[in-house]
Amino acid sequence: MPPTFEDAWSIANEVDGWLLERQGRALFEAAGRVASGSVAVEIGSHRGKSAVLIAMGLPESNRLTAVDPFDDPRWGGGPESLTLFQENLAQAGVSAKVDLFKGLSEEASAQWAGQPVGFLWVDGAHDLESTLKDFDGWLPHLTRGAELYVHDAFSAVGTTRAILRRFLFSSNVRYIGSERTLAKFKVEPLNMLQRISSALGIASQLPFFTRMIAIKLARRRGLHGLERRFMREDNEPLI
Ligand SMILES: C[S@@+](CC[C@H](N)C(=O)[O-])C[C@H]1O[C@@H](n2cnc3c(N)ncnc32)[C@H](O)[C@@H]1O
Repeated sequence: MPPTFEDAWSIANEVDGWLLERQGRALFEAAGRVASGSVAVEIGSHRGKSAVLIAMGLPESNRLTAVDPFDDPRWGGGPESLTLFQENLAQAGVSAKVDLFKGLSEEASAQWAGQPVGFLWVDGAHDLESTLKDFDGWLPHLTRGAELYVHDAFSAVGTTRAILRRFLFSSNVRYIGSERTLAKFKVEPLNMLQRISSALGIASQLPFFTRMIAIKLARRRGLHGLERRFMREDNEPLI
């Protein structure tokens, strides 16, 4: 019996990381749609929360390549992060389905000689330069019909700018929706109407983006009253 999302979430939920359940479900389901002969690629693995969900969601014969240098202090990176990543994959029983590229996304995409990529999950450095490298480096490896999911798409200034620059009026990447800050795109040729509709979809997320940034700034400055005024619910997540 292939694992259900509930099976995968019960393991992934124990792993330190930044994913809401609905985002985890989106990853699990997208992995399940990867066509045979294609692989999934993850940029930014940390301790394996999203890797567990993707690997458990993939069909039996598909594989995931996880890309992370495991040395970024912003996310508590370091050798212990790699060890925990490996332990968490083993715990989920998916070690044999996952290939690790220990290095930067731009290095991995430049050297890529693997199968075409049917699902790309971008959750790396979140600054403009890195995210543009993620998009530009990997797009040539994506199949027509591939799904491209981006985390912190509308809560990190760099990631949002990269999306606006590359995908706002793209002729081959269509915005298909969001799970809060997880934005979903599909690689396919777009006609003019689809380009306009995709651009409007991205633009519709900008008020949410503005609110996320306002909450972050207020929090950083210790303005907790203001922070609460921007929130739609108590302890609203910023992911
Ligand atoms: C937000 S965490 C990823 C979280 C992970 N997806 C999860 O579900 O827990 C970001 C990760 O991206 C990695 N990273 C930063 N820059 C990167 C780059 N250029 N290429 C690949 N990984 C990168 C960091 O080492 C860090 O582990």
